[in-house]
Amino acid sequence: MPLMSMKDVTKEYKLGKTVVRALRGLDLEIFQGEVVAIMGPSGSGKSTLMHILGALDIPTAGTAMIDGSDLKDMKERQLVTFRGKKVGFVFQTFNLVQTLSALQNVELPMIFQGIAKSERIRKAKDLLTRVGLAERIRHKPNELSGGERQRVSVARSLANDPEIILADEPTGNLDTETGQSILDLLKELSTKDGRTVIIVTHDPEAAAIADRIIQLRDGCVAAVGRHVTEGSKNDPSAVGSASGGAQPDQVPVAKAEESKASSAGKNSEGRHVTEGSKNDPSAAGSASDAKQREQSSAARAEEHDGSSASKTSEGGVAHA
Ligand SMILES: Nc1ncnc2c1ncn2[C@@H]1O[C@H](COP(=O)(O)OP(=O)(O)OP(=O)(O)O)[C@@H](O)[C@H]1O
Ligand SMILES: [Mg+2]
Repeated sequence: MPLMSMKDVTKEYKLGKTVVRALRGLDLEIFQGEVVAIMGPSGSGKSTLMHILGALDIPTAGTAMIDGSDLKDMKERQLVTFRGKKVGFVFQTFNLVQTLSALQNVELPMIFQGIAKSERIRKAKDLLTRVGLAERIRHKPNELSGGERQRVSVARSLANDPEIILADEPTGNLDTETGQSILDLLKELSTKDGRTVIIVTHDPEAAAIADRIIQLRDGCVAAVGRHVTEGSKNDPSAVGSASGGAQPDQVPVAKAEESKASSAGKNSEGRHVTEGSKNDPSAAGSASDAKQREQSSAARAEEHDGSSASKTSEGGVAHA
């Protein structure tokens, strides 16, 4: 049985009289222990899908099942508990609390789960050691490099021992080498721990660690495959669209040449999924929108990972 199953999922955002259809009948299954990369042009619905996979948001229509629970049957309180226990988030901009040390940042999600202070500190130290930051636990984010900050956020994502790790552009602000070390870490969470790791990315290096690459286009799954091909990365027309969404086990994937020839609209047989979003003309203009949306998604994640809760009612993070 899949760990996550999306059936005919639609997500609409209402802005005054305008309705934005971010997901349009998306079908998807993700299995326990997989590393999945979600790719696609800017605006294709990647972050929207990630929010649903992380129970940060629910579909407007359709069924989103995560680990046997249907999101639409859950009350807000249940959703909060559910994602607090089951899901760890990693963001492009790290979303660490600037006033707290690395150790305190990793402790935060545990405070929200009511873990005792001594246990929190023990676990946070263990996690920071695991990500290679044993020597940096007292550093605040501005006293850490970008790669180190992202390591802290990976450690924080693991605080409540979640089954699922969701990372939205985790290497977006890192150089190639630093990004690769974060990717190695994320991959290890699947291979060593058996966690399910879902990475939203434009980065072919990130997609390269994935067991499967799911390509979105216009709010649907356009293709599912295993590889990003060189030479087709810059071709936005490279992915053949699968009407109604592709089923992962059918692996309908598109070769750049074939889909160029046949244009979008048909599945084409092949072994590779192309990235097709690097040079997407829609990407440039919406960069600041994307940033804003990322910030709003970060805000929704806060109550779970505590990433803005520098002051908590418990006040328990301010240990020396
Ligand atoms: N909170 C929101 N309110 C209104 N519209 C939204 C909201 N979030 C996303 N959208 C719209 O939904 C569509 C999909 O957005 P989404 O953020 O999922 O795209 P994306 O694939 O993650 O893009 P990017 O690569 O730029 O991050 C876009 O057209 C976007 O403008
Ligand atoms: Mg996004």
